[in-house]
Amino acid sequence: MSKIFVDACLRKPTPYTPVWMMRQAGRYLPEYMAVRAKAGNFLNLCHNPELAAEVTIQPLDLVGVDAAILFSDILVVPNEMGMKLEFLKGEGPVFEKPVVTEADVDALLGGEEAANKLTYVYETIKILRKQLDVRGDEKALIGFTGAPWTLATYMIEGQGTKTYNICKKMMYSNPALLHKILKKVTEVVKFYMEKQIQSGVDVVQIFDSWAAAIEPSKYDEFSWKYMVEIAEYLKAKYPHIPVIMFPKGISAFIERGLVYGNFDVFGVDWGTPMAMAKEKLGDKYVLQGNMEPCRLYDKTATTQCVEGIQNIMKGEGHIFNLGHGILPDVPVENAIHFVKECQRVSKK
Ligand code: CP3
Repeated sequence: MSKIFVDACLRKPTPYTPVWMMRQAGRYLPEYMAVRAKAGNFLNLCHNPELAAEVTIQPLDLVGVDAAILFSDILVVPNEMGMKLEFLKGEGPVFEKPVVTEADVDALLGGEEAANKLTYVYETIKILRKQLDVRGDEKALIGFTGAPWTLATYMIEGQGTKTYNICKKMMYSNPALLHKILKKVTEVVKFYMEKQIQSGVDVVQIFDSWAAAIEPSKYDEFSWKYMVEIAEYLKAKYPHIPVIMFPKGISAFIERGLVYGNFDVFGVDWGTPMAMAKEKLGDKYVLQGNMEPCRLYDKTATTQCVEGIQNIMKGEGHIFNLGHGILPDVPVENAIHFVKECQRVSKK
């Protein structure tokens, strides 16, 4: 069966421009909060395939998006490489023992062995594949990973950071160690994405949420080339599976024409003008995005933005999304309004 979201990723004609939202399964939905409470906490929810599948489906029914994104987190990868992880209330993710030395990197599990430990993710995908096929409503399932750089920032800093000073100190004073970490993560992620595809996802997205922490002249060396390596590995083996790249906040890199590689869709963040992305990348890649997520607080601001993006993209080589994740205090009805407006303005 042909799925509208997959067709759009591959630049095939669709009846309207499909839409989904980054972080669409999450705290703004009371139904998500109820399932998370049942699981006990966020990581337990990620580890419970039945419940993880349930919250993955929620935004399809409650908000009307055209694709489901697997419910999990990017940090399950370093966790299964052997780094103890906790999500602290109000503080986000924390690794007990950050990576500091070469010996710390060597002690981490690598390659397929690490990827094999993520069985609960593959189990969740298999449940979802069955559920989506039974529904028969042409909704696609998106798998994902963090980019090696974004994962490395948490592995090195031990938690979220505003300054990235520890990993940037490593970038300039011991780049070989940073590359060693990035290479090891890249190898695990290749197997991880491959196993997600074998378990049944239709599309994969690579999130480089902290791309903008790297100065533009260093971005290729420390992040983009590793993302491209993963994408090209997957496209060589699974050419029918679309790959979406989302490097957040790299308009200077785009402006200089440095985006390259074999993938299908480029996720445009909200700080990059869609017209500029179209001019620089629109011939080569389908573009995804890019409403500023805070516009969701106001329906008029949402409609204006959706119409503006539609006027630029005109339903060609485009997927609607936010330019980053939806925030927990957005009213559900405003999210529904966004989805309906995207489907309305782009209807052919
Ligand atoms: O998009 C989806 O609906 C699928 C699920 C998903 C989550 N995290 C669930 C989640 C996805 C795709 C992610 C990716 C992720 N995780 C990223 C990249 C995407 C982005 O937003 O830039 C990053 C950087 C992380 C790491 C992470 N996970 C942080 C920093 C936090 C804490 C901050 C926060 O938003 O609370 C998380 C927790 C997290 N991941 C939650 C959810 C629903 C909230 C946990 C909860 O329910 O309490």
